Amino acid sequence: MDMPTDLLGRGLRDLRISVTDRCNFRCRYCMPVEVFGAGYAFMPREHLLTFEEIVTLAGIMVPLGIRKIRLTGGEPLLRRGLEDLVAMLAAVEGVNDIAMTTNGVLLAHHAEALALAGLNRVTVSLDALDPVIFAKMNGVGAKVERVLAGINSAQAFGLPVKVNAVIQRGVNDGEILPLARWAKIAGVDLRYIEYMDVGETNGWKLAEVVSGAEILSVLESEFAMVPRAPAYRGEVAAHWSHADGAGEIGLIRSVTNPFCQDCQRLRLSADGKIFTCLFAAEGHDLREILRSGMELQIIEETVRSIWLTRADRYSEERGEMERPKAEMSYLGG
Ligand code: GTP
Ligand code: 5AD
Ligand code: SF4
Ligand code: SF4
Repeated sequence: MDMPTDLLGRGLRDLRISVTDRCNFRCRYCMPVEVFGAGYAFMPREHLLTFEEIVTLAGIMVPLGIRKIRLTGGEPLLRRGLEDLVAMLAAVEGVNDIAMTTNGVLLAHHAEALALAGLNRVTVSLDALDPVIFAKMNGVGAKVERVLAGINSAQAFGLPVKVNAVIQRGVNDGEILPLARWAKIAGVDLRYIEYMDVGETNGWKLAEVVSGAEILSVLESEFAMVPRAPAYRGEVAAHWSHADGAGEIGLIRSVTNPFCQDCQRLRLSADGKIFTCLFAAEGHDLREILRSGMELQIIEETVRSIWLTRADRYSEERGEMERPKAEMSYLGG
């Protein structure tokens, strides 16, 4: 059967799999400690998809178009044995790119095993190099050196590294240039992310968003840069290359320049629900269908029909209507 396209003509290419809703950080823009404190009820273990279930669902989605898989969380490295899941996914025919988004603090311990298991690349979230700003932003006082060590280690084991930095006005806008200077030397693809109104708990305000245009003008005060064309349809970040040839930077402008038109992403939560948009309130439960012993063909048809009727374009509609949204730490970004 054909690969489905949704109501806006978009195919299904990327599967983002959240493996846990837990995190060892409490970034204010994602998991503010007042909400995600000691009493917060995370998912009970039996609700989590097993590795076998994740791999079964990934395999079902290849005929529907999935080629790229990204492991997310919460913090994916908190899920024990993640290397085993990577190896299992690497063996799924048709999947040709496996990436992971991590806060990097545990990466140094896992980089070698992940690379050997078949991980293709990592994206590390790093919002500041200044130790005080970094410790404040991550909400648990984590040290920036550990993240830098994780990045080094990933590179040493041959994993290309991208870095994501969420820029918030009055918090880390002073880190735009230091991050760019560092990234150029460290050989990482650095992407700045506009602070998004994702979830219900971060108290998002438009005034705290630093637009991509503003970030670019700060960068241009020090670096000569030229825009480069998208590497593939649906690339989330717009890129600028350094004119001296040493690297590039990206801007993820979901607030000021939404990219819904080319959105080919499906998200699978750790408890087995699929979400067709980062800003959706609810997902469709696949875990119960899977555990009920239903034929895999029926699950494939369920996903196909969900994709065929998809019309999400939240970032383009932002502000037009108020509606509840799932948390990023649950959905995996
Ligand atoms: P590659 O370009 O393949 O490396 O991956 P990616 O950009 O899809 O993945 P990554 O997790 O690094 O995405 C970067 C960030 O962009 C995410 O963490 C989100 O903040 C944001 N983002 C990714 N996908 C979407 C999306 O579908 N909608 C919106 N609004 N933001 C997204
Ligand atoms: N706005 C923008 N990016 C966010 N992230 C988490 N919360 C937000 C938000 N409110 C980013 C993280 C990480 C990725 C998974 O999503 O910093 O890089
Ligand atoms: Fe921070 Fe990522 Fe953890 Fe959210 S999931 S609190 S962004 S490290
Ligand atoms: Fe895709 Fe929804 Fe993000 Fe738009 S807002 S790019 S539809 S996930």
